[in-house]
Amino acid sequence: MIDALKNIVGSKNVLYDGLEKSRIAHIWDTDMPLRTKGVILPKTTLEVSKILQLCYEKNEEIIVHGGLTNLVGGTLVEPHQWVISLEKMNAIEDLDESAKTVTAQSGVILEHIIAAAHEKGLFLPLQFGARGSAQIGGVVSTNAGGMRVFRYGMTRSLVLGLEVVLPSGAIISSLKKILKDNSGYDLKQLFIGSEGTLGVVTKVCLRLFESPTTRYAALVAVQTFDDVIRLLRFMEKQLSGNLTAFELMWKTAYNAATATKQQSASTLSKDFPFYVFIESMGYQLGEDYEKFEYAITAAIEKGLVADGVMTQSAQEVNSLWMIREDTRALTQPYAFSQHFDISLPIGVMDKEIATIVKHLNALPYVQNVFPFGHIADGNIHLIVGKKDSIAAHTKQINGIVYKNLRKHQGSVSAEHGIGLDKKAFLKTSKSDQEIALMKTIKQSLDPKNLLNPGRIF
Ligand code: LAC
Ligand code: ZN
Repeated sequence: MIDALKNIVGSKNVLYDGLEKSRIAHIWDTDMPLRTKGVILPKTTLEVSKILQLCYEKNEEIIVHGGLTNLVGGTLVEPHQWVISLEKMNAIEDLDESAKTVTAQSGVILEHIIAAAHEKGLFLPLQFGARGSAQIGGVVSTNAGGMRVFRYGMTRSLVLGLEVVLPSGAIISSLKKILKDNSGYDLKQLFIGSEGTLGVVTKVCLRLFESPTTRYAALVAVQTFDDVIRLLRFMEKQLSGNLTAFELMWKTAYNAATATKQQSASTLSKDFPFYVFIESMGYQLGEDYEKFEYAITAAIEKGLVADGVMTQSAQEVNSLWMIREDTRALTQPYAFSQHFDISLPIGVMDKEIATIVKHLNALPYVQNVFPFGHIADGNIHLIVGKKDSIAAHTKQINGIVYKNLRKHQGSVSAEHGIGLDKKAFLKTSKSDQEIALMKTIKQSLDPKNLLNPGRIF
């Protein structure tokens, strides 16, 4: 295998015999050396194809690595598996200003694509905390979400074209820049969000928008959950197309996120039950800020908002959003933490979250529960800080959070995926028939179960 791989990618692009130990499986576990047969670093789609063909012939399992920011164990590796990392496929191949598209190899870091588009006056709306590390191949294969989903959709809605390599080595390439293509099955959808189980994404073509020229943010305090929902509807109308993000933090989460001096600069009193982060982006300097200011003021006058701060300089806007984006403050004080990513219909959200928090807080090993997230999408994250990682305790916490998901037709994973961590709960979100069909698709594309095995099911 080693010789064959070296023949394909060159000897310095196969890391084994100790060299692989300089690598990691997750960006948060920098002190845990990778245990793998070897790390393979292809530079072209053809090399990826030859690697997969070789692995298929030799029955070798492969785990695909990108920026290693996955939150459900999707990048974990077992010692008998190989790692294929796309980091050397890191070129932006084309930025088409008239078609408003960007075509990039899968190892390009999301933030680099955002910046390259911005230079041309174009905008890629993907916005989440890991954008400085996440690679676009992983973003696409996990169908990442983030803060602007309710306005621009998940990653899926931004992908126009895709190039993937199947487990057999076959290259399926359709990097079309067109928005509309109804010519039979939309095959790229198979690979978006399937967590690298059906093919390795090697290139993507994404849709871009005109770069907004204004960006403002507000942080407002709200007294009731019903007011949060009323405020959302009010802001959508008031800001018309300019409302680009509407993120909620429950009091406990907000207080933990602003616990340090630096984080609490220019923020609000900590006594309100709910805090909403609002982003406005538009194209009319002057007019947009007036509209934003008027909307927030009107919300205060209507009694929807109890208190608020508005920011307009880029630096202030960014530091306000860091309170919401940087979740480290919610995990750092605890020896262990459990992360959730559930969807629920908005109508049951308030009661469900209150019940979940109450039951979790009653467990002696739970230290804190932080609900926050993409309320406009019906997607809430929970971070549970706890004293230990005893399996029975983890299970009990899962049981409480997932108890009513099926009843309410929610989802066990709104945006982070299933990976390894949520496999046992796939059936709370998918019927037996759906899971059987998913397995049929997996079986037909990867009959030997060699590519990202064990992910999803
Ligand atoms: C967030 C990521 C973790 O919303 O999904 O912060
Ligand atoms: Zn999220």
